[in-house]
Amino acid sequence: MCSLKTSSLADTMVRTGHLVTGRSGSVWGFLGSLTCAMGITYFRRYRLEMALTRTLFPCPPLPPYYQLLPWNPDDLDGHAEAKYQSFCGEIDAHVFPCLGEREGCRRLMEEITRRDNFVPEATWLLVHQVPGQRRPEYCGTIQGLRDRQDYGAIQNLGVTPPHRGRGLGTTLLGQALAGFRLAGLRRSCLEVTAQNTGAIRLYTRLGFRRVRTVYKAVEVAYA
Ligand SMILES: CC(C)(COP(=O)(O)OP(=O)(O)OC[C@H]1O[C@@H](n2cnc3c(N)ncnc32)[C@H](O)[C@@H]1OP(=O)(O)O)[C@@H](O)C(=O)NCCC(=O)NCCS
Repeated sequence: MCSLKTSSLADTMVRTGHLVTGRSGSVWGFLGSLTCAMGITYFRRYRLEMALTRTLFPCPPLPPYYQLLPWNPDDLDGHAEAKYQSFCGEIDAHVFPCLGEREGCRRLMEEITRRDNFVPEATWLLVHQVPGQRRPEYCGTIQGLRDRQDYGAIQNLGVTPPHRGRGLGTTLLGQALAGFRLAGLRRSCLEVTAQNTGAIRLYTRLGFRRVRTVYKAVEVAYA
């Protein structure tokens, strides 16, 4: 009885990807046939929103040797590399396993930028290149989509570990929000994993407010 209930709930969550609920937690359940035991972990995530009609926060000036590049399809690999280096080993690589793989990040970039609701104006790549360095280092990325309610939806803000704590995440976010405005959008939204306290602090400091809790089911096989 109990496993049947867990299974149907988990099936729904796996199918939809999300369950909107007020409950929290992480559970283990059995899915499918009894010969295949599957663990399901539910990650609590928050939807945050912000009006773009108000004055946006000031972006700190870029420190020396950093450059922000607007979206250019030739930079897809650079975005994918910055995304991979930013997310591998982080909590979101557990929630979205593709973020923890180089190829997964590339696929994700292709999927995002091919969509007809892709917002190129809100998509930026951050590079760092000191004089004498042959190739730039890809150290930050952000992408934007227009959702069904005409919100500018932030996708995968990431700054690579050696470049954090210098205001670069703030600047990337500010550029993306300005890009949504240019595209005529009046509100922005994003989802953040509840355990990602650093990112939540950044978003709320910059004016995002929590409007909803959602749960993301992640299916893991175990022996
Ligand atoms: C979340 C993330 C993008 C933040 O990037 P970042 O470049 O470190 O962001 P910032 O530097 O703008 O802000 C981070 C902190 O540095 C502080 N800071 C900003 N400029 C600074 C400066 N010049 N000197 C010192 N500290 C500074 C900020 O006040 C902020 O402090 P807080 O943690 O108390 O809020 C980055 O940690 C990351 O990529 N994490 C992994 C991927 C991820 O989880 N992304 C979010 C998905 S929703």
